[in-house]
Amino acid sequence: MKLLSCIHLGWTLGLLGLPAQASPVQNTTAIASGNVRERTSLNKDWKFWHSKEIPDNVVYDLRPDANDSSLVVLKPWVLPSGNDYIADASAQYERPLTEPDIDLPYVENEFDDTDWEQVHLPHDWAIKGPFYTDEDPEIGSAMGRLPVQGVGWYRRKLDVSRKDKDDLVLLEIDGAMSYPIVWVNGHLVGGWPYGYNSFQLDITPYLKPGKGNQLAIRVENPAGDSSRWYPGAGIYRNVWLTKVNPIHVAHYGTKVTTKDISTRKATVDLEVQIENKADKTQKVEVVTEVFVHGSKHGRKVAQFPRQDISLQPESKGSVSVSTTIRDPRLWGPPPTQSPDLYVAVTSLYDARGRLLDIYKTKFGIRSVEYTPDNGLLVNGERVPIQGVNQHHDLGALGAAWNKRAARRQLEILQELGVNAIRTAHNPPTPELLELTDEMGFLVLDEIFDSWAQQKTESDFHLIFNDWSEPDLRSWLRRDRNHPSVIIWSYGNEIAEQNRDAVAAEIATYLQGIVKEEDTTRPTTASMNSAWPNSSFAGVVDLISLNYQGEGLRYGPAYAHLTGNRRDPQYDAFHAAHPEKLILGSEVAWSLSSRGSFSFPVTSYQSAPVNDTSGGNSTTLEISAYELYSADAGSAPDRVFSTQDQHPFVAGGFVWAGWDYIGEPYPYYDGARSAYSGIIDLAGFKKERFYQYQARWRPDFPMAHIVPHWTWPDRVGEVTPVHVFTSGDEAELFLNGVSQGRRKKEPLTYRIRWDDVVYEPGEVYVVAYKDGTEWATHTVRTAGAPAALRLSADREAIAADGEDLLFVTVEVVDAEGIVVPQADNLIHFEVSGPAEIVATDNGFQADFTAFPSHDRKAFNGLALAIVKGVDGRKGDIVVTASSQGVEKGEVVMKTV
Ligand SMILES: *[C@@H]1O[C@H](CO)[C@@H](O)[C@H](O)[C@H]1NC(C)=O
Ligand SMILES: *[C@@H]1O[C@H](CO)[C@@H](O)[C@H](O)[C@H]1NC(C)=O
Ligand SMILES: *[C@@H]1O[C@H](CO)[C@@H](O)[C@H](O)[C@H]1NC(C)=O
Ligand SMILES: *[C@@H]1O[C@H](CO)[C@@H](O)[C@H](O)[C@H]1NC(C)=O
Ligand SMILES: *[C@@H]1O[C@H](CO)[C@@H](O)[C@H](O)[C@H]1NC(C)=O
Repeated sequence: MKLLSCIHLGWTLGLLGLPAQASPVQNTTAIASGNVRERTSLNKDWKFWHSKEIPDNVVYDLRPDANDSSLVVLKPWVLPSGNDYIADASAQYERPLTEPDIDLPYVENEFDDTDWEQVHLPHDWAIKGPFYTDEDPEIGSAMGRLPVQGVGWYRRKLDVSRKDKDDLVLLEIDGAMSYPIVWVNGHLVGGWPYGYNSFQLDITPYLKPGKGNQLAIRVENPAGDSSRWYPGAGIYRNVWLTKVNPIHVAHYGTKVTTKDISTRKATVDLEVQIENKADKTQKVEVVTEVFVHGSKHGRKVAQFPRQDISLQPESKGSVSVSTTIRDPRLWGPPPTQSPDLYVAVTSLYDARGRLLDIYKTKFGIRSVEYTPDNGLLVNGERVPIQGVNQHHDLGALGAAWNKRAARRQLEILQELGVNAIRTAHNPPTPELLELTDEMGFLVLDEIFDSWAQQKTESDFHLIFNDWSEPDLRSWLRRDRNHPSVIIWSYGNEIAEQNRDAVAAEIATYLQGIVKEEDTTRPTTASMNSAWPNSSFAGVVDLISLNYQGEGLRYGPAYAHLTGNRRDPQYDAFHAAHPEKLILGSEVAWSLSSRGSFSFPVTSYQSAPVNDTSGGNSTTLEISAYELYSADAGSAPDRVFSTQDQHPFVAGGFVWAGWDYIGEPYPYYDGARSAYSGIIDLAGFKKERFYQYQARWRPDFPMAHIVPHWTWPDRVGEVTPVHVFTSGDEAELFLNGVSQGRRKKEPLTYRIRWDDVVYEPGEVYVVAYKDGTEWATHTVRTAGAPAALRLSADREAIAADGEDLLFVTVEVVDAEGIVVPQADNLIHFEVSGPAEIVATDNGFQADFTAFPSHDRKAFNGLALAIVKGVDGRKGDIVVTASSQGVEKGEVVMKTV
């Protein structure tokens, strides 16, 4: 009873960039009772301990790798955490009447954790390695050869001030890998097995006023295979503590949808669910106002009608209201549209006009049409899907969420011309969708990689029966207000897809749940082997094909392969489902190591990697002429050609945008990260970057020569030169001598000079568009390594202990030309209020642990990732040195 609501709102809205005088509350005399909603980060100052074996005799549930009847199964106490997301009340779970019969010292307030490691979240215990390098690794290549297995315990004290005693205290975890279970003051509160989903627990009943409250969180990862890629390990996403009045907007309690959209006006429908956890019936007034998000003036654009609702104790109720926004700024993907956002600010008042809660919902106004013959229309404009698949890891930082690292990934993708992301194959962290909303990416939001049938021994299939409904509903409610999300996917390459009856039954069940939660977006599940006539294809709202569109093991270069083979399938699916939009949810799967080239170069437009064609299973490098693919994949050229011959296809998501940890196909025996990215694990551009840029940014003048021109062993040998350009014609010169002016032929996406004979010097290309000069590119032969040249992605970062600098090292010769095959061992140092958190070079088979300050350059480049110290401002100097060359440094600062 101490804060005037206008002051309180001024503060709260300050977070939105709204000035205090723009208080949206009409009744400025209203008094807040206690605190309105307060959400704080709980990321700092945890104690952590990890064991590779099960150290505590408990397990979420018995599994193939933990099938010992002496283990105490905690599942009965965890299942009720999903109750809010189980529609049928009779199917919800009762908490057992007794506590689990265990003695767990780690959850006790008195337990002495002083010897445990001090960590800040988000935290991934496995990323520091070391890598398992042996022939029979404990954790295999598919999962990145990193020590994810075992049990991790996190402990932290919580301070509950007396003024909060009437509030509810809610713990929110954006994701923990995996099977997180939470204890407060020794009491098991609940948990959420699927490591990629977010969940909230009401910890109020277990708290006592004062400083001594003990929070303990246990996570466990199976010892066997539980994933087809690197999952990360630990509490790898943000943790929040939210305090609310017992009468409050429920978790994920708002649902905003928009309709009748034009540039003149749009209708916004809002549903607000309110929860009463107080012990008496309450009448609540619900007031929601709409502001332009991020506007300096806090411009209010609409107000929903006020609504009253009466709520019994321990109940929830909803109000539904509509309003019209005049001259709305629509949300849409750049470069032709702009991702404008609004924010709905919902305030709850009690019968005496006292403010109870303020809840903000960001949303956008956009229309999306999903047409079978003309692809995707966003606000009436055809937007071809120029998408990429992204796994959740952040390279050398592992799975531990970092907003700057994710933003950097998206920035480089945007430079490439990407306008869409598929969250392969799991819910992203909520902040990723905030970024895609702000930056204007379209998102295919995907939840499962397996249903009831396994892909790996200990994957989601173990918990499918218990958790598919709560996982689906909570994910849908969490993500439904994001304008960037345009498609829901409830499965990727599901093993059931060809078991017709089973596939139909499960797909229909999952689809039904999605439709109950959201009817404004279509559903899909990606098919890599289902036929057009399959029941599976019949259930989904839109057809999303993995690789099949271009054909599997299709064409002469793939003729010698055995395995699942398909002709290109777009026409067949289009004919079988003439009413459904078709897209490629995974296209390409082409493979390369940045800056590596091998000879001879295949004459095919697309060929499978093998030891005599593009690959080398000894060096573990794959040629970056960008003509080589996985057996079931295609080089980009073939994807583009297929798309151009099937204009009804809405576009596709390339497998993959960035290289990621795990799935090092085809070198499972030697490598630890993927070859399929357009961008390598360190964030360096492969040659393919320029090929996609040429297609996806046709108005951006660029030309790019492949390969580099430093081949001392190739003098006199044929060394093909290929050029990627957004122009339509180009002339190539070698040491001033024209090699011919050539046009890009129809259905080809590069200009090739396959007969160039290597001599050192300079290769130069002039590209033309419509007959006029458009862009040029020059590549010169480098001499011996002479120096290290450093550059940083930014000059200054925030001194908040989270912001990051990405420092690139180039090994250059005496004239400053990058030495393309240099592999100098580089030593990094930093001075000033900062630390080097990881280094990388983008090579898929480098087993140097990521935190190492010593790293070999790979094909001339290396990367250091530097983090500032929280609260300390000053200059940062990063130095790189290597024997026999001049050292380099770069100066930045934290502000
Ligand atoms: C545990 O082992 C028994 C006996 O081999 C087997 O029948 C059962 O399916 C296993 N349980 C799990 C969860 O793997
Ligand atoms: C404003 O709040 C006061 C104090 O609670 C209350 O008496 C009054 O009815 C409210 N006015 C409106 C317009 O809501
Ligand atoms: C579906 O199509 C495939 C391939 O053409 C065919 O083998 C199969 O018999 C068809 N199934 C049904 C149920 O028609
Ligand atoms: C490698 O692929 C090529 C086609 O690009 C094929 O002709 C050759 O037989 C393959 N080699 C092996 C060893 O499979
Ligand atoms: C692979 O690379 C190694 C080392 O450079 C070389 O000796 C070998 O000939 C290469 N293999 C093929 C098939 O090119």
